[in-house]
Amino acid sequence: MPDNASRDIADPLLAWYDANARILPWRAPPGSPPPDPYRVWLSEVMLQQTQVATVIPYFEKFTARWPDFASLAAVDDADLMSAWAGLGYYARARNLLAAARAVASEHGGDLPRSEAELRQLPGFGAYTAAAVAAIAFDQRAVVVDGNVERVVTRLFAVTDPLPGAKPRIRDLTDSITPDLRAGDFAQAMMDLGATICTPRAPRCLLCPLAGRCDARAAGTPEAFPVKAPKKARPLRYGTFFWVERDGRVLLVRRPAKGLLGGMRALPTGPWAESPPALSAVPFAAGWTLRNVTVRHVFTHFELVAALATATIGSHIDIAYESADGEWWPIADLESAGLPTLFAKAVKAIRRSE
Ligand code: ADE
Repeated sequence: MPDNASRDIADPLLAWYDANARILPWRAPPGSPPPDPYRVWLSEVMLQQTQVATVIPYFEKFTARWPDFASLAAVDDADLMSAWAGLGYYARARNLLAAARAVASEHGGDLPRSEAELRQLPGFGAYTAAAVAAIAFDQRAVVVDGNVERVVTRLFAVTDPLPGAKPRIRDLTDSITPDLRAGDFAQAMMDLGATICTPRAPRCLLCPLAGRCDARAAGTPEAFPVKAPKKARPLRYGTFFWVERDGRVLLVRRPAKGLLGGMRALPTGPWAESPPALSAVPFAAGWTLRNVTVRHVFTHFELVAALATATIGSHIDIAYESADGEWWPIADLESAGLPTLFAKAVKAIRRSE
């Protein structure tokens, strides 16, 4: 049975959700039977580190092309990586495919229902396993994402800084999670965090939990969550190489392991701590260094890339062709599935012409 803390919070929150749930393509309306587990899982993987508005068109495209585990398990790795291009955090896509294949081959095409079994599948961390168990299988599970962290640290005025406060936040979330409707509860917390209990200027007057929120009582909701100071991201420099032949540009496939692993890309030089001279070119050509750079922020570093371009004659062979190189029609680059970083580089090169 839920204790008082759970009822005090879960009951008004679920009543609010019943009236205010966002309508989203992977959701069942509040209180109705759970949606297709495949769609729940796919959406939860896409929603990690990516905004709802960005995810929706990708979710629609994926479910139209691959409506179930069997069709996703059968897809070519390269096709999946291209379809994922632009969503970022590409390890998610590699794990997505590995999980679909494990579900198809080891679980008869259906996701296991318990959080513990889900944890065994590729890409199922604590968050995904709990979210899928709760939302798709109506199991009681404690679901904590960034929105939930913000709501809970405000409700209980948690002054310990993140990330050290995570175990305490999980315990507090556990203490308010109801036995029934844990999936709706989790999604209600997320919707509250996204629409009312926002990082800046929270709309406390509309909040169903305002009366029992410690941060509101203290008058300082925006002070939560408290965060430990971030380490500065190191800056790295690199060079991207655009070589053109007969209206086509050379694209390579990045090694499966590592940054943007498995994605199509322009050839790149090494990342360095100072801006590179044009020395480490991938092959000899009449390279010109453009006077534009592209910047991109990754989790662990920020990259500034110089752009080098060359045009070679149709009779010239280069070493990349035999390995993983493809001469891609420049007029059709949109369909190459380049990650955002390289799409930015292509735009910058075009603008600098
Ligand atoms: N963010 C992550 N999962 C979500 C969900 N199921 N609904 C809304 N926002 C989310």
